[in-house]
Amino acid sequence: MAKIAVLGYGVVGSGTVEVIEKNKEGLLKKAGQEIEIKYILDLRDFPDSPYKDKFVKDFNVILNDPEISVVVEVIGGIKPSYDFVKSSLLAGKSVVTSNKELVAKKGAELLKIAHEKGVNFFFEASVGGGIPIIRPLHQCLSANRIDEIAGILNGTTNFILTKMIRDNMAFDDALKTAQELGYAERNPSADVDGIDACRKICILASLSFGKHVYPDNIHTEGITKITPEDVAYCENFGGSIKLIGWASRQDDGKVAVMVCPAFIHEDSQLAGVNDVFNAILVRGDSTGDVVFYGKGAGKLPTASAVVADVVIAVKMNSSSKSLYWEDSDQDFIEDTDKIV
Ligand code: HSE
Repeated sequence: MAKIAVLGYGVVGSGTVEVIEKNKEGLLKKAGQEIEIKYILDLRDFPDSPYKDKFVKDFNVILNDPEISVVVEVIGGIKPSYDFVKSSLLAGKSVVTSNKELVAKKGAELLKIAHEKGVNFFFEASVGGGIPIIRPLHQCLSANRIDEIAGILNGTTNFILTKMIRDNMAFDDALKTAQELGYAERNPSADVDGIDACRKICILASLSFGKHVYPDNIHTEGITKITPEDVAYCENFGGSIKLIGWASRQDDGKVAVMVCPAFIHEDSQLAGVNDVFNAILVRGDSTGDVVFYGKGAGKLPTASAVVADVVIAVKMNSSSKSLYWEDSDQDFIEDTDKIV
């Protein structure tokens, strides 16, 4: 039996617990052993929860329990997640996370520790919610040289832009609707200023080009300056505006990465991606264009990616190999602003 701990009982954390509990039989077959949630870490009290006996408030209980082989971090942000994840890996526990900020900023370091410790650090849910993209990009497309990635990576901004285009809403009204529906992050700046999309394209670029791409190095522009006039202008030209995270291999071998609103022609596969949906177009030198499409956020779609990682972490626990990139060369991206 594999015993795991879930750090954080918010939207994704409670979804993760729900998916594991409801799919116990199926997961047993896929993981080769039963997966038991031994602890849930959260500072809040949940006296009516069916899992109330599993709740702990002190991370050291989890860290010092040798029975815990996999830690699921779904708190988000850097503090205290980074410390929790790093100390879990150093203690020889595999980690699964949905935390794109953590992976984008600290992924290279955490992967190196995982590799040294012979455990795994998995983050399928960090990009595209329920859309399989991390493992397909790294494994299924591994025979390709990846030349370009262009993605609608943020559901909230895509929802806002869809409202502006379809319902002629002003930006502020569309943002308010997104907040009322619970799409926007706690701080809407992460969505509307392109920060969330930037973290996600950094993760995809790092996987595709083999070196860590840090968010601070990336030109990032959100959608706050988009006006109804811009929207009408794009429609006149047979297309629409999308917030695009873009990474491209250049002829000189360098890589350009950026996030900005872009005119997308109606013939593009990205043009019909509306509301909170995400889509990621990957151009491989052998496959040509491959497009991944689906729900990029939400409790159960994101939890499905987290739990899939848990299954693989449990299966691979005896492996001495870590996956994904190991090189943390920070000088990889140069002059991204010059390349449009
Ligand atoms: N705020 C994010 C989005 C959630 O709208 O896409 C998923 O990362």
